[in-house]
Amino acid sequence: MGRDACLTVVLAAGEGTRMRSARPKVLHAIAGRSLIAQVLSVASQAGGAVAVVIGPGHEDVAAEIARVSPAAAVFVQSERRGTAHAVLAAREAIARGSEALLVVFGDTPLITPATLGRLRGAVAGGAAIAVLGFQAADPAGYGRLVTANGELLAIREDKDASPAERAITLCNAGAMALDGRTALQILDRIDDRNAKHEFYLTDAVAIARAMRLGVVAVETEEDEVRGINTQAQLAEAEAVLQQRLRRRWLDAGVTMVAPETVFLSADTELAKDVVVEPYVVFGRGVVVEEGAVIRSFSHLEGARVGKGAQVGPYARLRPGAELAADVHIGNFVEVKAAKIGQGAKANHLSYIGDASVGERANIGAGTITCNYDGVAKHRTEVGAGAFIGSNSSLVAPVSIGDGAYIGSGSVITTDVPADALAIGRGRQVVKDGWAARLRKSKSRGKEKPPHAAE
Ligand code: UD1
Ligand code: CA
Repeated sequence: MGRDACLTVVLAAGEGTRMRSARPKVLHAIAGRSLIAQVLSVASQAGGAVAVVIGPGHEDVAAEIARVSPAAAVFVQSERRGTAHAVLAAREAIARGSEALLVVFGDTPLITPATLGRLRGAVAGGAAIAVLGFQAADPAGYGRLVTANGELLAIREDKDASPAERAITLCNAGAMALDGRTALQILDRIDDRNAKHEFYLTDAVAIARAMRLGVVAVETEEDEVRGINTQAQLAEAEAVLQQRLRRRWLDAGVTMVAPETVFLSADTELAKDVVVEPYVVFGRGVVVEEGAVIRSFSHLEGARVGKGAQVGPYARLRPGAELAADVHIGNFVEVKAAKIGQGAKANHLSYIGDASVGERANIGAGTITCNYDGVAKHRTEVGAGAFIGSNSSLVAPVSIGDGAYIGSGSVITTDVPADALAIGRGRQVVKDGWAARLRKSKSRGKEKPPHAAE
């Protein structure tokens, strides 16, 4: 077997104690996907093999990796002894050989494939190590890039830095590319003689220089390399990613008058000429086709919206909602696991779950599919062109034929054939003069009320 062009090692053995959460840090999510899934998506775009280093007992992290990147090799770092020690937990993968070894952190999810490409390019261009650097607004806590005459000499960790070194604002982002031919030799020379008694990956720089190998720094924006240690930093990263996603869909021809109020998921897909009004939330797994309009305060998740359809304001599309072209789903309508045929309308106050609705059907205000009997879910079928009168309950399993009419306020418990009328409600009774008699008897006070006589 030939060696891979590239091996990306993702370090994710962190506990994330500063998140004050029972969940491992890399399972926290931004834009609807876990940090580890986000980083793995970038790593896979770098091409080549991927290895992930996780902490002991992190079965849930391993499961998430298997779900999103089944081809990635998972290694366990049994003791947390530093970033170089973590990289070497993947020794078996590294020893197989690759042209470039990329190291990225699982808690730095905003890094882009283009930046990883620049790091690899620097190694392809002859450097033994390329380090990603950035100008930090507040460098405290970061490793500093110590340079002289434009050359990178070493990386000094915050705890080991002299006051003069602490004043350096050019910092280590954490991502690094190493030439595959010398990577292991360098990594094996790293020791733990430092303030934290850890094996620092950053020491690779000074070691490579001592070996007379070339070392370079590649600079990027701080927003791209924000590390996540706290809930506040998680929210900041979310904001950066949301801005990127909004920009991407605006550039693709989507209209958003207030993009800063629209929340997207990493996997949201919007076609050109889609209009998204202010205050819309796209959860995971939403696809919106050309020309559809998503009106304000709608919440969509796991849903497909067909061409020219209109959704909202105040609509909720839950997983399995599939709207064909030109469907109208109006205010306070919830759709779950239901296919709505072309041109069908449910404009007000309805629940349509576990159902299929035929083309051009009209679902009146307040219609409810009663899909759950307390034990199991059942399906409702509404035929093409059917008309469901307002405030009807369709008690599943039930089917309404094509073109059938349902009288308002009905509770429908048995199937209705095509083109029939079904009415299922108490018959109306009208009693002439009854109200006038009531009022009269009350005003006299003594006489019996009219209903007592009946
Ligand atoms: C690290 C860098 C620092 C850089 C900063 C950028 C080192 C020694 N320091 O510091 O120069 O400015 O990142 O954010 O590399 N990890 C493991 N196992 C370990 C230790 C760490 O898997 O034993 C993983 C963590 O899960 C995390 C990453 O490595 O994803 C970085 O570790 P962290 O402890 O956060 O390093 P910093 O002190 O932030
Ligand atoms: Ca960190």
